[in-house]
Amino acid sequence: MAYTLEDEFGDIIGKARRGNGLSVSDVAAQSGLTEAQLSQMEDYTLKPTEEQVHSIAECLNLNGDRLADIAMERWAPEPIPSGYDDALEVVTITADVGGWPVHAYLLVCKATNKAAIIDTAAHPDDVLQKVSETGVEPTLILLTHAHGDHANGLMEIERATGCPTYIHAQEPQPRSTRQLRLLNHGDEVAVGNLSVKTLDTPGHTPGGCSFHTRSTVIVGDALFAGSVGGANISYTDLLSGVRNYLLSLPDDTKLFPGHGPATTVGEEKAHNPFF
Ligand SMILES: [Fe+2]
Repeated sequence: MAYTLEDEFGDIIGKARRGNGLSVSDVAAQSGLTEAQLSQMEDYTLKPTEEQVHSIAECLNLNGDRLADIAMERWAPEPIPSGYDDALEVVTITADVGGWPVHAYLLVCKATNKAAIIDTAAHPDDVLQKVSETGVEPTLILLTHAHGDHANGLMEIERATGCPTYIHAQEPQPRSTRQLRLLNHGDEVAVGNLSVKTLDTPGHTPGGCSFHTRSTVIVGDALFAGSVGGANISYTDLLSGVRNYLLSLPDDTKLFPGHGPATTVGEEKAHNPFF
């Protein structure tokens, strides 16, 4: 299995350590490993043993079995089959930003061919090319958050499509050609016949949010397969938003993150070490 998770063991323990407010020496003291070993594991220059994974997981309030499955490369989510929903299609646009792949998405209502452009992947030309290749009619732009790798190039997309842009009311606003439309938890926007609901998933950013319709959610950097986004604002808010509004959805709900492979609620409930 080619191992393709956005976050692997080193990223996960670094995020959980910082989220729990612990230093490398705190974790070393509690886990019986040395500071050097832990730093090397966070930097991917030292592979842990299964026993070490369990000691570290216990210090960081992570699920040890799930963390071990990721550390030993025993789990990745099953690929999402295309055509899983007769009413919609999710088209993924992946671009390289500073050496890291980032996803933007087209969420397409099949009945009307209308689409939402969700995030920019900082590559407006790639997004616009996908719009023209697929022949969909974009009617609005939705931003999961305002980080540059997700929102740069917004003005080019606005000018080319004439679409209005929506962002969460608590999120800093990126440069735009017009007044942004503000969303709060539970607000719905129409994409053709689809009703797309805003879910609060902050913590990575102040107003990070997810967009939910039918059995599909575009989650931005709130959650990655087997991990979560970096908790730049609040680790507690990040975990509670994901738990309350994403992992509470039915198990077959598809989750499309801003980085890394798509996953499902069922996969994350069974395999994500943070929950
Ligand atoms: Fe981000």
